[in-house]
Amino acid sequence: MPLSDGRLGQYVADGRRAEIQSRVSSLLEQMTLEEKVGQLNQRSVHFVTGTEDEGAALESAVADGEVGSLLNATDLETKRHLQQLAVEESRLGIPLLIGFDVIHGYETIFPIPLAQAASWNPDLAERAERIAATEAAAAGHNWTFAPMVDVSRDPRWGRVMEGAGESPVLGSAFAEARVRGFQGEDLSDPDTVLACAKHFAAYGAVEGGREYNTVNVSETALRERHLPPFEASVQAGVGSLMNAFNVHERIPASGHESLVDGVLKGDWDFSGVLVSDWASFREQIQHGTATDRREAARKAIEAGSDIDMASEVVIDELPGLVREGDISEERLDDAVRRVLTVKGLLGLFEDPYRYFDAERREEAMLADEHREAAREAACESFVLLQNEGDRLPLDPEADVALVGALADSGEDTLGAWSFEGRPEDAITVREGLESFLDRAVPFAPGYELPGEVTEASIEAAVETATDADVAVTVVGETAAITGEAASRADIDLPGHQRRLVEALAETDTPVVAVLMNGRPLAIDWLAESVPAILDVWHPGVEGGPAVAETLFGEHVPAGHLPMSFPSSVGQVPLAHDRLPTGRPAEDAESGYTTGYIDAPNEPLFAFGHGQSYTGFAYTDLTLSTDAIDAGETLEATVTVENVGDVAGRDVVQFYVRDLVGSRSRPEKELLDFETVELAPGERADVPITIEDTDLAFWTADREWAAEPGEFDLMVGHAADDIAHTERFALLE
Ligand code: GLC
Repeated sequence: MPLSDGRLGQYVADGRRAEIQSRVSSLLEQMTLEEKVGQLNQRSVHFVTGTEDEGAALESAVADGEVGSLLNATDLETKRHLQQLAVEESRLGIPLLIGFDVIHGYETIFPIPLAQAASWNPDLAERAERIAATEAAAAGHNWTFAPMVDVSRDPRWGRVMEGAGESPVLGSAFAEARVRGFQGEDLSDPDTVLACAKHFAAYGAVEGGREYNTVNVSETALRERHLPPFEASVQAGVGSLMNAFNVHERIPASGHESLVDGVLKGDWDFSGVLVSDWASFREQIQHGTATDRREAARKAIEAGSDIDMASEVVIDELPGLVREGDISEERLDDAVRRVLTVKGLLGLFEDPYRYFDAERREEAMLADEHREAAREAACESFVLLQNEGDRLPLDPEADVALVGALADSGEDTLGAWSFEGRPEDAITVREGLESFLDRAVPFAPGYELPGEVTEASIEAAVETATDADVAVTVVGETAAITGEAASRADIDLPGHQRRLVEALAETDTPVVAVLMNGRPLAIDWLAESVPAILDVWHPGVEGGPAVAETLFGEHVPAGHLPMSFPSSVGQVPLAHDRLPTGRPAEDAESGYTTGYIDAPNEPLFAFGHGQSYTGFAYTDLTLSTDAIDAGETLEATVTVENVGDVAGRDVVQFYVRDLVGSRSRPEKELLDFETVELAPGERADVPITIEDTDLAFWTADREWAAEPGEFDLMVGHAADDIAHTERFALLE
C-alpha cells in the first residue's frame, strides 16, 4: 500500500504513514477470516432501520464485527451509537466508515454540480466541497460518495446534473478540485471526508440516455472520454472509487478485471478502496454474467472490487470462497488492507468519535460564510443564453411581474441529491426578487408543478404580466425529474409550460425567461419567442438572491455551457468534439454530407456558450513557435479586451484539432481554458502552454501518445464561436 506516493499519501502527515501501516499489518495478523470479510460488508442504515428487528440485527452485526462501513444514516445519535458498538463491542474494535451522498452540499446546498461546472472555475467547486465536508464531517460522516465524474453528452440521462458535462478536460479539472475540497490537507483533520470518484466507468454513456441501460463504448472512447476524470481523481489522491452499474464490453463494471485490476489498480496504481454502487456486485446475476450470489461475489472480488455496499453477497459467500481456495487470502488481505488504511488516514483508530461533535455541528450548518459561498457559486454558474436587444439587466425601478411556480419552490431551488438540505432554508427566486427590490412583486404561478397549465392559470398569469413593465417567467424542470432514475425521452420543458410562455409573449409586456433545469433542454421554440433567457439551473440554497442580483445587473453573468443544448432531442448524443466523418458537413454543395433532412447538425446553444452584459474581443492569437519537438513547450497568447460598458469575467476557451492521426480525430476538442476579469476598455494577454503530452490520444497502436503532425489551435468564446486559428506542428 504505497502511502508514500504523492497521491493518497499526500493526505497524511509524514510521521503517521509508518504508524498507520504497522497498525494495519498488526490488525490483519489478528483478524479472523470472518472479521476480514466483515470489513468489506457495508450496510445501509436508512433502509434497514425500517423495523425494530432489522435495527437490532444491524446492531448485532456491527457488534460482532460483521460490518465495516455504513451509508445513509442521518440521525447523529444513531451514527454515534453504531460507532460505539463497533469500537467498544467488537473483538478488535475497528471503527466504521460512515458514508453519505454529499453531492452538492450537506445542509448548505450549492448549485447542482453541472451548474458549478458552468462557472468554468474549479476553485469554486473546491471551496464548495470544502464547506460540504466541514458540514458533513460535523454530522458524523467521514466518507462522501462524490464527486460524480461521469462524462456525458446525452441530456436525456437524468444524472448529467451530478457531473461536469461533456468535456473530459473540463471534467478532469472539476474532478481534481472536488477531491481536494473534500479531502483537504490531511484526512485526519476533523473537517475532511474521504472522497469517492464515481461511477467507474462510462455510466454517462448509457444507450438512449436510458437510466441503468447498457453501455457500448469503444476502447478509444473509454480511454479518451470516460477515463480521464477518474485518472485525474486518482492523481489528485482520491481515497475511493465506486463501481458503475453498467457493463463495458458486456462485462459488468464490478466484475471487470481488466478495468479494475488492469487499469485502476494496475496502470494507475490506485491505493485506495473500491466500493460497489448499491447492489452492483449481486446485479451481475441480473446482467446474466453470474449464475448465483456465490459467483457474483467471486467475480467482483476477483476483479479487484473491494466493498459490497448493500447486496450482502460478500458477507454471505466470501468466507466459503476463501476456505475453498476460490479467492486467495492474498486478494482478501489486499482488499481489507485498503479499507483499514483509509480508516487509518481518517484518524479513526486514534479518535473514532471525532466526527460526532454536536457543538461543531451547530456552528457549521448553514453558517453565514457558507451561505455567502453558495450565493457566489450560484452567481458564477448562471449562463446568459441570449439577450437580444439587451433586455437584461432589468431596471429596479421598473414594475416587474413574476410568473412561474418554480419561482416559489424551495425544493426545486435546491435541486436533486440534496438530502440534508431543507426546502425551508432555500431562498426562492420570488423571495430573492422581493428582498432585492424591497417590495412585494406581483406573482402568478402560471402552472402547477411540474408543468400543468389551465386556461385559468394562463389567464391569471397574462393578467399579472399585462399590468407590468416587464414579466420575468421562471420555467424549467422540477428537481424530481432530474438526477438518478429520471431519464427523459422528451427534453422540452415539462407539461405545457410552453403554452404559458407563448401566451405571455403575445402580450405587450416584454418577457424575460429564467430557466431552472438539471440538464440541457431542447427549447428552440423558447429561444425564438423570448429574447432574453438566463439559465440558473437548480441554484441551491441562495438561488433567489443570486438570481435577483443577476437580473438587475448587480452581478454580471459569466457562466458558459459545460454541455451542448440540442436544437432537438433527435440530435442526441451531441457534443463539440465530433469527428469529421468521410462526408464533412462543410462539403455541403454535394448534398451527400453528414446531416439530417429535418434538423441542423449544430446545437441550439453550443458547448462553451454564454453571454455577458458586456463584451469581450479577442485580438491576435500569437504562438511562441510554429513547431515543437516532444518535450518542448509552445506558448500561445491571446489578447482579450472588454469592449463593453461594465466590468465582467470571461472564459477564454482554447480548442485544438489534430489534422491527421492514426485514428480519426475530432474537428475540435477543448484543450485548455483560462478566465479573466476585465474593467471596461481593459485589455489583458491570456497565455497557455502546450506540450506534446497535451496532444496525446488513444492511437491505433493502443497507446496513449501524441503523434507528430500538424495541429490547429483555436481560441474562442464557445465551440461554435472561434475567433482565431493558428497552425503549429509537432515534429518527429
Ligand atoms: C445510488 C447511486 C450512487 C450512490 C449510491 C448510494 O444508486 O448510483 O451514485 O452513491 O446509490 O446512495
